[in-house]
Amino acid sequence: MKKLFGVFALVSIISLAKAQGLQSFLPSGKYIGTAVNDNFFNNPSANGADYETIVKKDFNVLVAENAFKMGSILANKPADPLNLKLSDLNLSYVDKLISFTQSNNIRLRGHNFVWYAFPPSWLTTEAANWSEAQLYSFTKQYITLLAGHCKGKVAEWDVVNEAINDNSTPALRSADTWYAKATSPQAFIDSCFYYAHAADPSADLFYNDYSIETSYSNKQSSMLTVIQGMVDRGVPINGVGLQCHFESGVNTGDWVYTEVGKVMDKLGVMGLKCNVTELDLRICGSASSITEQADEYKHFVNILLTKSNCNSLLLWGFTDKSSWIPGFFSGCGEALIYDNNYQPKPAYTAMKEALQASNSVKITNANSIAAVVYPNPSTGNFMLSSSADILKISVFNVQGKEISVVENVKEGFGENFSQGIYLLKIVDVYGNERYEKIEKR
Ligand code: XIL
Repeated sequence: MKKLFGVFALVSIISLAKAQGLQSFLPSGKYIGTAVNDNFFNNPSANGADYETIVKKDFNVLVAENAFKMGSILANKPADPLNLKLSDLNLSYVDKLISFTQSNNIRLRGHNFVWYAFPPSWLTTEAANWSEAQLYSFTKQYITLLAGHCKGKVAEWDVVNEAINDNSTPALRSADTWYAKATSPQAFIDSCFYYAHAADPSADLFYNDYSIETSYSNKQSSMLTVIQGMVDRGVPINGVGLQCHFESGVNTGDWVYTEVGKVMDKLGVMGLKCNVTELDLRICGSASSITEQADEYKHFVNILLTKSNCNSLLLWGFTDKSSWIPGFFSGCGEALIYDNNYQPKPAYTAMKEALQASNSVKITNANSIAAVVYPNPSTGNFMLSSSADILKISVFNVQGKEISVVENVKEGFGENFSQGIYLLKIVDVYGNERYEKIEKR
């Protein structure tokens, strides 16, 4: 019995720990995630058990740092690249991540189908001999097989990654890509979205890039033109991913958050989502500190919480022990929210506090949505007294039929209601609800 209690206590502690991770403070429909690297798949002991424990505790969306890229999936040259078979695709990590996310109730993001960089080593030479039609055929087969295999299991895909030129002239990359045979890079990109949509119509399809986060980069206006064109042509695109690989303390002033908010709004007007897909805030020399970095991470959480068309914030890894930064940005590091020993850094605490604060606003208002409705003693109309601004009040009759919705109620309402009993559903500007029963005399 004692033993059983011990087991029970342990289980409770574990679930409490999970309950207190970053993701546990999110409102529904919002996701915080991380990229997981190859060690996660093939060498768990090198990372210690902590890696997986942290992933489950803190995150409700995952993406593979490399395992879903063509460079990994077609690393081995297929016998006949123009007649691809599912067995040509190396799907072992893909399947591992699918089953891990499914059994832990975590959303899965696919990154990516088409990227000019890091293609399989054989592809560029091979594709140089293809006709344009063969290029299209290969790409269609690849996307169809992979998206089809992951259908219903990968919630969203980066269909095309980093297709816009750094200097934006011409807008789209071409010569330096394995898909250079595409005479119109734009038509090629559009086609990739059509192929992905046909293979998995329910997946959200994204265009993903860097240096599109602020209007201070030429790439942003190119991106907006490219994406608006796709929307206008009816290409099945659902959103744009902002990578957000920033240098802490250097390109992270307050203006950045304003700029990120603005581009999210612009894409929102096009009917698109806009997610932060690869956030890391590297520290290079003395330009920043881990406390300054903490404040920067907090701002990104607030963007996630406040922007209605931003539903996920993904970090490009979570521990400084395995981050791409030191290898790609010389002299830089410490970009993530856990240190080399899997200990949370100030950035982690700041993110958690930002999430808790938003949660506590909700709870406070849910309890104190003191939206008291009472009859005006002289007229019998309804009077409202509320600490939070009220968005709307739905009025139901005793049969439960909604008979009216009143909006922008400041003080009194109900002049038009006949005598009787009504049920009111009161919703405040935070989305909190309260039900009241009241009699009109
Ligand atoms: C990087 C990975 O982190 C590295 O491990 C790999 O060697 C190269 O790719 N933008 C992207 C990501 O879209 O796929 C890149 O990931 C980082 C920049």
